[in-house]
Amino acid sequence: MSQKIAFVSDMHIAPDSAGALRSQSLLDLPPRRKKHLVHALDQVRQVKPEAVFLGGDNTNQAADAPGYAQELFDLLELCPRPWKIIPGNHDVGPTVGWHHHDPEAMKSAVKRYREIFGMDYWVHEAAGFQVIGINSQIFGSSLQEAEQQTQWLHEVLSVPAPPDLIRCIFFHTPPYLKDWDDQFTDGSEMMCLKQEARQPLKDILFQHPPDILITGHAHRFWIQREHRWWWVGLPATALPLSEMDAVPDHLVPSGTDQVGWVSLERDAESWKAEFHPLFTESESP
Ligand SMILES: [Fe+2]
Repeated sequence: MSQKIAFVSDMHIAPDSAGALRSQSLLDLPPRRKKHLVHALDQVRQVKPEAVFLGGDNTNQAADAPGYAQELFDLLELCPRPWKIIPGNHDVGPTVGWHHHDPEAMKSAVKRYREIFGMDYWVHEAAGFQVIGINSQIFGSSLQEAEQQTQWLHEVLSVPAPPDLIRCIFFHTPPYLKDWDDQFTDGSEMMCLKQEARQPLKDILFQHPPDILITGHAHRFWIQREHRWWWVGLPATALPLSEMDAVPDHLVPSGTDQVGWVSLERDAESWKAEFHPLFTESESP
């Protein structure tokens, strides 16, 4: 019998009174984002996954307005349990090297996030997968929490995954777009970690390569072979990359630009990732 887990990402949930998502499609308003998430969770429930993983930018701006987190928390009543969640830049702030990175603000945002959603890094085993969720936003920062997470991650990864489990490392912001030396200045740098945050993550991944790397943030689904692992990019439920007018997309790995979610499925021999669009081509998003 096959076994599945579900990944839902970049929901960008905000109160109805909030504005659009910064220079994006005029269609992209808070009620539409909520409608998309409700629809995604309906579809996820039908699959009966053993666990649901939420990939960051879960809120649109809880980093600055904590009330956004409550909107999401209420909606997650619709999500099959257990669910596990990691933060994105809109939840706890931008990574080191990005404009507006503020260690003090991030420290309080991480504290608030933990009070509402629990720890921002964890391990959860389900359906034949070992998913290691981490907070990509604090990598390379001066936060004490970053050092603690790195130590924890080394400890977890130094124990090989049980032979019957596929090991996934799951975090919000892609480490790079083309390769580990990426240094963009055309706006594409907003789509991946900067070198300061990327390097400590690279050190760990090269020392303890997972079977699959899973990231959000780019609002595009892809699956590609990379180094010693597979890389799965998660789609958004809020809006596809093609609607994000302010963000260059030419360097982002090629894939599917539709709102949706992803399931991972095991059988005795292997695994597969499947993209689930929220809408058929004849339906309006
Ligand atoms: Fe993001």
